[in-house]
Order: sequence, then structure tokens, then C-alpha cells
Amino acid sequence: MNRRRPAPATPAGLPELATSRFHPWFGDLQRLSLWRMLTRLPALIATALRWSWKASPRDTLLTVGLNIAAGALSAIVLTAVVGILQGLFAQGPTPERLQAALPSLLLAGAAMVTRAALRSAAIWAQGRLTPMVERAVEVELVSLTTATRLEAFDDSDWCDQIHRARTLGVYEAGRITGYAADIATELISLLAVATVVTVLHPVLLPLLALTVAPVGWAAIRSARMRYARMRALSTSNRLLYMYTHAMTEREAAAELRAYAMRPMLLAEFARISDHVRDALLAVVGRQTTTRAVGDVLGGIATLATYAALVALLLAGLMPLAVAGAAYLALGQGKAALDRLMNAVNSCYESGLYLSDLLEAFDQARRRTPPAAGTTSPGPLEELRVQGVDFAYPAAEANALTGVSITVERGRIVALVGENGSGKSTLATLISGLYVPDAGTITWNGTDIADLDPDELHARIGLIRQQYHQWPFSAERNITMAAPGTADPDRLGRALRLSGADQVVADLAHGLDTPLDTRFKDGADLSGGQRQRIAAARGLYPQADLVIADEPTAALDARAEERLFSTFQAAADGAAVLLITHRLASTRSADWIYVLDHGHVVEQGTHTDLITHGGLYAELYGIQAAAYNGATPHRHTEEFL
Ligand SMILES: Nc1ncnc2c1ncn2[C@@H]1O[C@H](COP(=O)(O)OP(=O)(O)OP(=O)(O)O)[C@@H](O)[C@H]1O
Ligand SMILES: [Mg+2]
Repeated sequence: MNRRRPAPATPAGLPELATSRFHPWFGDLQRLSLWRMLTRLPALIATALRWSWKASPRDTLLTVGLNIAAGALSAIVLTAVVGILQGLFAQGPTPERLQAALPSLLLAGAAMVTRAALRSAAIWAQGRLTPMVERAVEVELVSLTTATRLEAFDDSDWCDQIHRARTLGVYEAGRITGYAADIATELISLLAVATVVTVLHPVLLPLLALTVAPVGWAAIRSARMRYARMRALSTSNRLLYMYTHAMTEREAAAELRAYAMRPMLLAEFARISDHVRDALLAVVGRQTTTRAVGDVLGGIATLATYAALVALLLAGLMPLAVAGAAYLALGQGKAALDRLMNAVNSCYESGLYLSDLLEAFDQARRRTPPAAGTTSPGPLEELRVQGVDFAYPAAEANALTGVSITVERGRIVALVGENGSGKSTLATLISGLYVPDAGTITWNGTDIADLDPDELHARIGLIRQQYHQWPFSAERNITMAAPGTADPDRLGRALRLSGADQVVADLAHGLDTPLDTRFKDGADLSGGQRQRIAAARGLYPQADLVIADEPTAALDARAEERLFSTFQAAADGAAVLLITHRLASTRSADWIYVLDHGHVVEQGTHTDLITHGGLYAELYGIQAAAYNGATPHRHTEEFL
């Protein structure tokens, strides 16, 4: 289990920005040598090609094939240009020399036109490939993230990783195949130039390599700096994203104004964005220095190359025609090497983001339950929780320790306890969404980990304390808890029992109304109305086990009364686990468990627990006193 010291707090109580420097991967990245990075490139290109192939075999073939063909044509162009020069610089009268150069001239022209056409076609195929790869990668990302265990989302490193994958990885993955194709094109062009210059004079080849190597080194080094900084800034960028969301979306708009949070939010936003800006500016400075060093070294090498050419010419070791061709070939070679370095650089940078994305995929796979159980759960007779311990990934202490409870068909079991005592955590574990660190949860004697998760979820009607209102129609918001098309009878029952029928009756388009005002004809609901919809969602599947976590917190007295009688009626054929602070409602429960700091401290019927005079009796006493008009002495003192 991951145990960390709390990070130093910012004015907003969020992690200090500089702490992101100490993410474990940061040091690794700094230590990774350029050579190792380059040796990883082929594997990254292979992965990129696999993704492209998966997205569209035809466009992958076209992108790679057309680029390679364009590269091959560069070789023809260069050979033809050398032919033109040799023809022109040969001995003899001008018309004859022109005639000698003509075939090469025609060949060069035809090759150039064809190369331009092939390049355009390659750009077209590449343009098609990019969105297709992006989509395939995005689909893979969401299909993996939605399969992970729920705990993954309690881990900030995972949240950072997914944020990077979503915002950068997906985008870069779409581009890497194009860069890989560019590398192939430029390699072929370069091969042609290398052959030509070697034929012209063997010393020209090492000189050519020397000219571009420093520039390439600088470009790759600066890409690495940018990427390392991007990773180091991912927490800050996520914070910025959160702040932007809070300041531009409706959800937080009212609180932002009511609590006069604007100055604090703007100051915090400025502080983080300044931090990001300064970090990026620092990289720009270091990148410029690196590039300048590369350019200066490259310039010196270029001078040396041309000096060598002149020296060869003066020494009579190279005829003028060959020197002219060599000059041209060297220029082309330098341009091709420049483009190759650019392509390697871009490919390498995208590759870094892609490997980060692949790491996110791996992490997601590691956080996915190994093999889902296949046993069919069957109708519930008894659900038993035995000696369960559970701690949240980032928490110091257990949220639950040694918890044992039993819920049987036809019974209402209530779970009570003060805030933070572990009730919702236990409900989430029973639903199979969290996995206990110790102990077992069995469904008719079978560990729920061995049960088919989809079938298990279909047998549990969960009304969560923190429910999400989906931007769907009212009907979909209710029926989404069961797969398949909506069953009108079950829908009618769920609407009636939850009181959501009155909500829907007031909606302009009834069940078809989108429950989100960002959409046309969308409606917004009151807190209690939302809770009725959430209750209807949990009741719709007519599940074997209804887990209702604070289902009436926002309901009016009549709706609350109706929902509790619903649970009693439901308990005829199902089991009900009711979590509530309204202790008047737990009086009729068949059995009550009292949780305190993650332990079951009391259990029994209402009468047993009142007689026992423990925590339950105290909490019940406080509520009853409020209704009887009396105020418990202890609390009066605290409030005065
Ligand atoms: N996602 C989480 N990550 C870390 N700790 C959590 C998380 N959710 C809850 N906790 C902690 O676990 C403990 C139990 O929380 P839980 O939500 O189960 O309490 P509860 O009994 O349902 O409280 P309430 O009556 O307020 O709903 C609390 O200390 C809470 O702060
Ligand atoms: Mg709770």
C-alpha cells in the first residue's frame, strides 16, 4: 500500500508545484542517455506503425509507400543533376554540351514533377491517417480507463498520467507515423546523396556527416528538454485545467461568486500559470543555447567541407565539373540531413509522448482486475462481509478494519454511524467497485471476486450518496442502470416508488427532456428532484440487493416517507442495505450495524441498541430530542 507524507500545501491547500519535480520518473528521464533514446526509436516507430495499421492499413501503406517512392525519386533527381553538370562542364562546343546534358535535364524535370505529385499524395494519405490514429488511440484509452479498478482514480500519479495521455499522448500518436515516413524518405534521399558524393570523392562523405551532426544533436537535445519539462509540469497543468474549468463552467459559478472566491482563484491561477510560464521560458533559454552551440559547430563543419572541396580542386585532385556536382550534392545532402534530423527529432519527441501514452495503457492494464470472474451470481440469499479491511491508496489509516456484516434476502439491514465512519466505503466494496485489502465478501457463499462483474452489478441496485447526473434524457438517466431497451413497466414502477414521476411530469418534454441545460430544451433540477432521479435509477433494475446510501438526504418529508416504505416493500423479495442518518427510519430495520472509525462497534435491532445505551442510543437520543423540543445539554454548551 502506498503511504506518502502529505505534500506541502499551497494557499489553496493543493500540492506545492515544485513537488512535481520529485516525481519518480523525473530523475529517470534525466539519466536516460541520448543513445538509449535513439535505440528506442525503432521500437517506437514500430508501435506507431502498428497503431496506424490498426487504424487504416490502406492509408498506412500509402503514407509509407508514397514517401519512400518520393525519396527514391530524389536519388534520380540528384543523379540527373550530376549528369547535367558533367554534360555542361565537359569539353567541346556549347550546343554539343547542351545536347549531352539534355537527357539528364528531361529526366530531372520528369522526376521532380513526379516527386511533387507523390509528395502531395503522401500528405493526403498522412492527413487521413492522423485523425484515424488519434481516434483509435482515444478509443483504446477510454476503453482501458473505464475498465480499471475504481481505486486508480484515488491515485494522483495515475490522474496525472491519464491527463498527459489525454491531452498530449493522443495528439502526438496521430503524428508519429507521418514523421516515421519522413525519416524513411529522407534516409533514402540521403543514401542517394551519399552514393553520389562517395563516387565523386570518398572524403566528401565524412565531411557531409560532420556538417549536420551537431545541428541534429542540438535539435534532439532540446526536444528532450521540452519533453522533460512537460512531464515535470503535468501536475501544474492539471491544476490549471481544474481552475480554468471552475472559472469557466456553470457548476462552480454560483459558489465562486457567493464566497467571493474570484480574487483568490485568479491569484492562484496566476501563480500556477507563472510557474508554468517560467519553467517553459527557462527551457527556451537552455534550448536556444544548445541550438546555438549546434549551429556554430555545424557552421564550422560546413566551412571545413567547402574548404576541403576548394583544396581538392586547387590540388588538381578533382576536375571542375566534379567539384560543381559535389558542391550541389553536398548542398542537397545537407538539406536532406537537416530534414532527416528534423524528422528524427519530431519522431523522437512524439515517440516520447507515445511511450508515455503506452505507459498509461500499461498502467491501466495493471490497474484492471486480472481476469473477471465467470461464475453466475444467482438470486441472492445471503451476502456476507467477513473481516474486511480497506485503506484508500493515498490514506494513512484504514477506512475499514475487521468489518463483518450479513445481509439476507427479505431483510432490511441498516448501516449507521457518524460522518467518515466508513459507510459509503463499505457500500462501494459490497458493490464490487473496491477490492478489500483483507477479508472476504461473499454472495451466497461465493467470493464476489469470482463472480461475473456485469451480472453482479445487474443484481445490485445502487443508489450512491454522490450520484452523477448524466447529460442524457430523464429516461436514460433512470434506465441506464440496466442494459437493453427500457422496460415501460419497470420504468413506471421506478418512477412511482422514487417520486421521480412528479419530477418528470413537470418537465417540458417529459422523459425525453435532457437533464442538462447545455443542450437544447435541457432542464435543470432541484437537489431533491435530482435525488429522486438517482433513486429511480437504483430501483429500476429490480435488483436482488438494493444498496441505498443516504437516499433521502435531499428529500422532503413526504418523499422520504414514500421512499422508506418502498424499501420495506422491496425487502419482500430483495435484500436492502440502507445507509442513513435519519434514525427514525432505521427503527423498522431488521438489523442495524453501527460503524465508528471503520469498525462495527454495535449491532442489533433498534430496541437492542437503545437498551444497550451506546453510540446508536446517543445519536438517536440527539435526533429524538430535537423533535421533542428538548435540547441535549452537552450540545447547547458547544453552540453557545
Ligand atoms: N476516495 C477517497 N480517498 C481517500 N479517502 C477517502 C476517500 N473517500 C473517503 N475517504 C475517507 O474514508 C473514510 C470513510 O469515508 P466514507 O465516505 O466511507 O464515510 P461515510 O461513513 O460514508 O461518511 P458520511 O456519513 O459523511 O457519508 C473517511 O475518513 C474519508 O475521509
Ligand atoms: Mg457516506
